[in-house]
Amino acid sequence: MVTSNLLISLVIFVIIILCGIFIQFHATLSSASAQNRLPGHFIPVHYTINIIPYIEENNFTFDGESLILIEAKIESNIIILHAKNLQIKGNITLNNASNKYESNNYTIDTKNDFLSIVFNEKIVQGNYTLHLKYCGVINDNLQGFYRSNYTDTFGDKQWLVSTQLEPNYARQAFPCWDEPAFKATFQISIKHNRRFTALSNTRFNSILSTNDSSNHVWTQFEKTPLMSSYLIAFIVGDLDYLAHSENKTFRIWTRKNAASRGEMLLSNGFKALKSLENFLGMSYQDHGFKKIDLVVIPEMMTFGMENWGIIFLK
Ligand SMILES: *[C@@H]1O[C@H](CO)[C@@H](O)[C@H](O)[C@H]1NC(C)=O
Ligand SMILES: *[C@@H]1O[C@H](CO)[C@@H](O)[C@H](O)[C@H]1NC(C)=O
Ligand SMILES: *[C@@H]1O[C@H](CO)[C@@H](O)[C@H](O)[C@H]1NC(C)=O
Ligand SMILES: *[C@@H]1O[C@H](CO)[C@@H](O)[C@H](O)[C@H]1NC(C)=O
Ligand SMILES: *[C@@H]1O[C@H](CO)[C@@H](O)[C@H](O)[C@H]1NC(C)=O
Ligand SMILES: *[C@@H]1O[C@H](CO)[C@@H](O)[C@H](O)[C@H]1NC(C)=O
Ligand SMILES: *[C@@H]1O[C@H](CO)[C@@H](O)[C@H](O)[C@H]1NC(C)=O
Ligand SMILES: *[C@@H]1O[C@H](CO)[C@@H](O)[C@H](O)[C@H]1NC(C)=O
Repeated sequence: MVTSNLLISLVIFVIIILCGIFIQFHATLSSASAQNRLPGHFIPVHYTINIIPYIEENNFTFDGESLILIEAKIESNIIILHAKNLQIKGNITLNNASNKYESNNYTIDTKNDFLSIVFNEKIVQGNYTLHLKYCGVINDNLQGFYRSNYTDTFGDKQWLVSTQLEPNYARQAFPCWDEPAFKATFQISIKHNRRFTALSNTRFNSILSTNDSSNHVWTQFEKTPLMSSYLIAFIVGDLDYLAHSENKTFRIWTRKNAASRGEMLLSNGFKALKSLENFLGMSYQDHGFKKIDLVVIPEMMTFGMENWGIIFLK
């Protein structure tokens, strides 16, 4: 038992090293020079992100709204962050307890994906809340916020929407400081039809009814620990799960009526997690996550994506 656990640990260890080399290789390829890096005059501290995906043939779009707590490190009247394939709606506002600034002078450049917001006034050092509304397309190219389909048990075509934000696609799902060094906490909420399930990095806090008559609910997730934008993930679909008997916070999610096919993944995944915890002498929860979900998705760019707290597998 010990040796087989050790073997699993070693295999996982090698996989992690290989992933590291792969990421570094990619990073070198897209080697960022100073001009295409964010200036860091303003840095994010906490994101509150509300997303409404529309999951309908002929309308795979989403609406988003973000309140981002930012810190102004130096005085400036231009805030620069990342956004790509997003359309900003209306004025962008910036406020603290005593002042409120508005801007309708913003552009997204397609070379660096910089969203530059110009204010009429100089913003002095301190903490502010940046408020943006935007919309985007839930695309079919497996990047950012994308859709995939499968045939359900009754032979009907079904859709689910999910994210792939590594290496730098978070900017396609919400405006953000999309470089790994800009770590922040995130609180994500997703509005969806109540027959669907929404999952994200953390456990859900609450499911709130909406007052429209549309059978929709808001699933609000707990605040994440401090993390990079590329490790954020969410998914909405008609899902089922299997929980591990030893620890119900370890779950396998599949499309409806397919969860029983996840037994092997559930038990092997749990064993792998335990071996890795033994190997590293550190438990997963020490990173601040109270659950792990493994979600099987019909279409992905890679075979798997190790988002924090929610791992996607093809
Ligand atoms: C998609 O559906 C939503 C909700 O019904 C609607 O508000 C939005 O305008 C639609 N978008 C398009 C492009 O049809
Ligand atoms: C948007 O911001 C501009 C510039 O600050 C301001 O002149 C305009 O009144 C604002 N529009 C709305 C609808 O608030
Ligand atoms: C928007 O900001 C740019 C850069 O500061 C400035 O050159 C331009 O005049 C501004 N446009 C408007 C309409 O205020
Ligand atoms: C709000 O920001 C303004 C200028 O950007 C600053 O003068 C003021 O002191 C700030 N207020 C608070 C409560 O931080
Ligand atoms: C801004 O918030 C950070 C914590 O996020 C804090 O360390 C810093 O002192 C705050 N700055 C001001 C000027 O309030
Ligand atoms: C999803 O649908 C598109 C077109 O509707 C199709 O080309 C694609 O193969 C489908 N994917 C799956 C996994 O069924
Ligand atoms: C629904 O309406 C009630 C009463 O009008 C209000 O108190 C509540 O905040 C609303 N809930 C949402 C989610 O908008
Ligand atoms: C189950 O796992 C979670 C982390 O995924 C951890 O916080 C919790 O303590 C574990 N519970 C038991 C009974 O092992």
